[in-house]
Amino acid sequence: MDYITIALSKGRIGKQADNVFKKIGLGDCIDLDSRKLIFKDDINKINYIYVKPSDVVTYVEKGVTDLGIVGKDTILESDTNVYEIFDLGFGKCKFSIAGIKGEKIYKKDDILKVATKYPEIAKKYFNERQQKIEIIKLNGSVELAPLVGLSDVIVDLVETGNTLKANGLEVIEDMFNISARLISNRVSYRFKFDRIQNIIKSLNENMEG
Ligand code: PRP
Ligand code: MG
Repeated sequence: MDYITIALSKGRIGKQADNVFKKIGLGDCIDLDSRKLIFKDDINKINYIYVKPSDVVTYVEKGVTDLGIVGKDTILESDTNVYEIFDLGFGKCKFSIAGIKGEKIYKKDDILKVATKYPEIAKKYFNERQQKIEIIKLNGSVELAPLVGLSDVIVDLVETGNTLKANGLEVIEDMFNISARLISNRVSYRFKFDRIQNIIKSLNENMEG
């Protein structure tokens, strides 16, 4: 039997993926509290690697790993050529445009300043709506940007809405829903089809409870 290699995303999604793989009896070798980056399961013939979300997409696209588990946000932001094969149903949140409460700035005749960690998603979304924008790329805590006058609005993930609320911001428009996805390298999907389908089947049965 061929080995399958799966890339897990560092952070919340990786931890939830670890739980799910343990539940379906596959992830015993994964120990995310260790500093190890590779986990080998010689019984089920699955190797796992643990990398940053945006790198999951790169490893899968290059075929170094057959499969990856990553948020839809990361897939949308990367211009990638992988198959998205299964919605894992966890890591649910949404992309929203948000701004200072009560101001509701969104459509502008001139250029809208948008702060975000996701420039590609924001560009595409506003472009499709003929809104001219200037992107201010930040690496986190983007909720600060409208408060200090760095941007008119933000484009960011909203899960509970607590971060917006705590900073006096509100959703102006919901863009799309996000969750964790199983992605596959295109060649692996053909050559390891049966093994990949078996993994999907177990994941699906686990979701159905
Ligand atoms: C994420 C996201 C929002 C927040 C949404 O930030 O960028 O700020 O979580 O969650 P909530 O709606 O439940 O408050 P994260 O904590 O990952 O930090 P960062 O933006 O600084 O990277
Ligand atoms: Mg944040």
